[in-house]
Amino acid sequence: MRVWDRLVRLLHWTLVGSIALAWLSTLGLGIVKWHEPAGYVALAVVASRIAWGFAGGHYARFTQFVRGASATARYAREVAAGHEPRYIGHNPLGGWMVVALLLCVAATATTGWLYTTDMFWGEEWLDQLHQALAWAVLVLASVHVGGVVFTSIRHQENLVSAMFTGNKRPAGGDDVA
Ligand code: HEM
Ligand code: HEM
Repeated sequence: MRVWDRLVRLLHWTLVGSIALAWLSTLGLGIVKWHEPAGYVALAVVASRIAWGFAGGHYARFTQFVRGASATARYAREVAAGHEPRYIGHNPLGGWMVVALLLCVAATATTGWLYTTDMFWGEEWLDQLHQALAWAVLVLASVHVGGVVFTSIRHQENLVSAMFTGNKRPAGGDDVA
């Protein structure tokens, strides 16, 4: 069944590419001129994805996958006990990770931009904050990929290829559609 629409998939892989480029450009490979453009692309992707979270189709909407504290805690207990249901959209923990990633990328790119303005240029604390946020994006993304691999194994489906094709195995009896 179709789960991730074209725009969700395009935005996801553009975001991954732009953040990878923003990071790589800081490693002294002679591509530092790509740092700011890559960061602005990441910011534009986040803004688009947030708009799509209100205007997009069923599985793209925040109201579909951002769950309350008690539902999220229950899901975490079910994962720990090894009997969590399969979700067709983002599961409750994955949903909060989506929110955290979007906010953290937005904060990273915004602090990077501010550092280039006349008002904040040379402010040491802002430079430090920008770099700390950039590291937080890396840590969150690593946990995110860990969660994707874990859930793929638990439910015997390749979630990474689903983010390319948009399709997942249809909902079965106990699945949360
Ligand atoms: C900088 C790195 C990354 C960021 C910021 C990021 C961000 C996101 C976001 C915002 C979503 C939600 C998609 C949506 O509803 O629009 C998502 C989902 C997803 N991402 Fe990433 N991602 C990153 C890296 C990766 C990588 C490297 C992989 C694969 C190896 C990956 C695989 C996935 C998959 C499979 C989903 C769907 C999860 C599900 O089935 O619920 N992500 N990611
Ligand atoms: C989300 C994307 C971004 C990531 C992951 C990121 C990451 C980083 C990292 C890791 C550094 C430290 C580099 C070093 O110490 O050599 C850095 C520095 C910097 N970034 Fe970003 N950045 C992003 C977006 C932006 C944007 C949008 C701008 C501005 C338009 C920007 C402007 C800068 C500047 C000016 C520095 C140098 C600060 C200094 O001289 O110490 N960044 N960024």
